[in-house]
Amino acid sequence: MNRSPLPLEAFEASAVELDKAVTLPPKAYTDPAFYEFEQRAIWDHSWMCVGRADQIPNPGDYFTTTLAGGEKVIVARNAGGEINVMSEVCQHRGMCITAPPGRPRDEWFEPPPEASGNTRTFRCPYHWWIYDLDGQLVGAPDMNHRDDFERSDIRLPRLEVEMWQGFIFANFDADAPALAPTLGKADKILANYHLDEMVSTPPEILEGMPFNWKLMVENFMEGYHNDRLHHDLYDLSLGDDPDNESMTKGHLGFDYEPGEGVLIGTARTAHKDRGLNATQRGFFPPIDTLTDDEHWQMVFMFVPPTLLVGLSTDSAFWFLVTPTGPETLNMSMSYVHPRSSRDLKMFDHLFSLQEAAVQLFNDQDLPANTATQIGLRSRFAPRGKLAKGDIFLAQFNHWLLERYRAEEGA
Ligand code: FES
Ligand SMILES: [Fe+2]
Repeated sequence: MNRSPLPLEAFEASAVELDKAVTLPPKAYTDPAFYEFEQRAIWDHSWMCVGRADQIPNPGDYFTTTLAGGEKVIVARNAGGEINVMSEVCQHRGMCITAPPGRPRDEWFEPPPEASGNTRTFRCPYHWWIYDLDGQLVGAPDMNHRDDFERSDIRLPRLEVEMWQGFIFANFDADAPALAPTLGKADKILANYHLDEMVSTPPEILEGMPFNWKLMVENFMEGYHNDRLHHDLYDLSLGDDPDNESMTKGHLGFDYEPGEGVLIGTARTAHKDRGLNATQRGFFPPIDTLTDDEHWQMVFMFVPPTLLVGLSTDSAFWFLVTPTGPETLNMSMSYVHPRSSRDLKMFDHLFSLQEAAVQLFNDQDLPANTATQIGLRSRFAPRGKLAKGDIFLAQFNHWLLERYRAEEGA
């Protein structure tokens, strides 16, 4: 049994109905021992998104990434077209096999950079052990002197892999229940977007952001701050949906049942085919398979613990959240567009406009997270009462508490 260093009873007030819920205990965002508990409770057992299949379209394509807990992995497409996610720790003496074979003096003590490319094998630069695209050891020089050495016994450890809507998910836990059956609610909402056929822009990685991973998720998903923190950007207001009480102006309607693997909200927009930029319109042609209603919709989605997605009617942006410590995280930011938009002559120009507009939100959101983290370290940090527009937080708290309790019960 692995007990939480913060008593879980203290979390219960955060995972009740919205009108009674308060924020999580501040130490859940700052305490190193609680961060370790979360590694076991959440990150060791969850489906973590590592990227998208369209980033590695051809056999031999690969990229590396670093997961929670600092685990470095290779995401590679094998000759048969299947995607593997495997440790990049060489099974000889532990070097990261995609590390460069030498670096200049000012980089001697830097972690190896992430790598990508196309290859038939991975050769560890240290002693030249060679692994194929499934992680199988296929070469090891000067090892014939050992009669207990069989290349076929040795492979790079592989994680469980599941694909969903074009996203690649990996899990350390071989017994983890499948992800897709927990995402049915999102499949319904996303059916007409054909997200799996969209094409990604190269991810931009922000390293060492100085706040807890949960703050990033909460900021991305809650709608309460949109008309306030961002009030001076442009009209962000969403239309009212008379059928959904929680979907009033500026707020997203959310719905979450225990056991589900996604938190998703839709909102009716004040303009048809709205874009998050000063023109209020998407820069790209709207996705032509959407229903008339869906042209008035924005979708915000979280597949915990890593994947955040915001969908407009012409594109989507997706962020990956990876904690690197109790008060730090790395984040990868990318967009997807329909292939027909990617083929437009003006794509690069339009995309630079789209990106610049979203950057204005980051200019407000990321410093807000930085300043909130400082507040949460304070002796005066609150257990604040949640607002109607904070409904996502109450639901996320449920998701968290389910995992924390399961870890204590395990
Ligand atoms: S550590 Fe990789 S070959 Fe020796
Ligand atoms: Fe924001």
